[in-house]
Amino acid sequence: MAIIGSDIKFAIELLNQNELVGIPTETVYGLAANAFDVDAVAKIFKVKERPTFDPLIVHTSSLNRISDFVQEIPDEAIKLANRFWPGPLTMIFKKKSNIPDLVTAGLETVAVRIPNHKLILNLLDAISFPLAAPSANPFGYVSPTSAKHVNEQLGSKINYILDGGACQVGIESTIVEFNDDGITILRLGGCEVEEIEKVVGRVNLKSYSSSNPKAPGMMQRHYSPLTPIAVGDIDNIIAQNPDKKIGVLAFNKKAENINGDHQYVLTNNDDIDEAATRLFTGIRYLDKLNLQLIACEFVPNVGLGRAINDRLKRAGSKRN
Ligand code: TXA
Ligand code: MG
Repeated sequence: MAIIGSDIKFAIELLNQNELVGIPTETVYGLAANAFDVDAVAKIFKVKERPTFDPLIVHTSSLNRISDFVQEIPDEAIKLANRFWPGPLTMIFKKKSNIPDLVTAGLETVAVRIPNHKLILNLLDAISFPLAAPSANPFGYVSPTSAKHVNEQLGSKINYILDGGACQVGIESTIVEFNDDGITILRLGGCEVEEIEKVVGRVNLKSYSSSNPKAPGMMQRHYSPLTPIAVGDIDNIIAQNPDKKIGVLAFNKKAENINGDHQYVLTNNDDIDEAATRLFTGIRYLDKLNLQLIACEFVPNVGLGRAINDRLKRAGSKRN
C-alpha cells in the first residue's frame, strides 16, 4: 500500500525523480507526474492501464505559467479563466513542443486547468514543471474522491498519496474547447454550463461517442463499477428484476422493500451539489456489496445535475 500523508516536500522529491504521486484536487484525486518528462508520463499510463490514445490534463498554478507550454490563449479563455480559475474548468489550447506527444495522445492541443485546492496549489508553486494528472483510478472505473479510494485501487503501484481530504466538488472538471464555431463543451463537469454561458454566451455541447477521436476518453461506457447499473425509475427496475440482489442509488429517498444497508441516498435536502460530492462514494459503496444490480435514478437536470446524469448514463451503458 502507498503512504498517505500531507508531506509536500516528500511529494516534490518524488515528482522531481519522475515518480508518480496521488494528489488531491477539488474535483477528484489525480495521479500526477512531471508533464514535461515523457518517462514520468509513461508511468501514468502503465499504472492506470490507460490506452495511450487517451490524452491527459496538465495542471498548473497560474495563467502566466500556462504560456510556458501553450501557444496562444484566446480572449474568451481569459474571460473564463478570470471567472473560474482556480476551479473545475479545463480548457483546450494549442500546445508548444515542450509538452510530449504522449501527454496529448499525439493531438496538437493540450488540456489545461488550475485546480482549486490549497495543498496542490502550494505544491505546483514550488515546482518548475506542470503536472500531468488523470483521475487516479484504473481506466474505466469511477474516479476517487478521497485518498483512501486512491489507495484501495492504485496503492500497490504507487508510493505516496497526498491527503487533501474529501473532494469539495466530487465530479471531474468541465472541459471546453475553442474553435471557429465558438466554444464547445467536450465533457460536462464541476463547472456549470449555465455559469459558463453567463460569461461567454451560448456554448455548444458535444455528444459523446466511442469513435470520437477528439475526445477519446469520453467513451460511452466509462465510470463503470463492476456491478451492472440500471438507470431509470427505481421501483420499476426493482419490479422487473424480482430474483436479483439489488442495491439502490437514490437521489433523495430510499426505496421500499430493499434492505436499507443496500441503499445509498445522494442528498437528504434536494441539494444537487451535495449529490455530486457523494456520487462516486455511493457507487463505490454499493459496488463492494456483491450485488447483482444497482438501480439508480436521474437527478434534476440542472446545474451539476447535468454532469451527474451524464456519469450515470455512461455507468449504466451496456458492456461490450
Ligand atoms: O477534474 C479533472 O479533470 C480531473 C482532475 C484530476 O483534474 N482529471 C481528469 O482527468 O478527469 P481524466 O484523464 O480522467 O480525464 C481527462 C479527459 C479525458 O477524457 C481526455 O480525453 C480529455 O480530458 N482530454 C485531454 N486532453 C485533451 C485534448 N487535447 N483534447 C480533447 N480532450 C482531451
Ligand atoms: Mg478519468
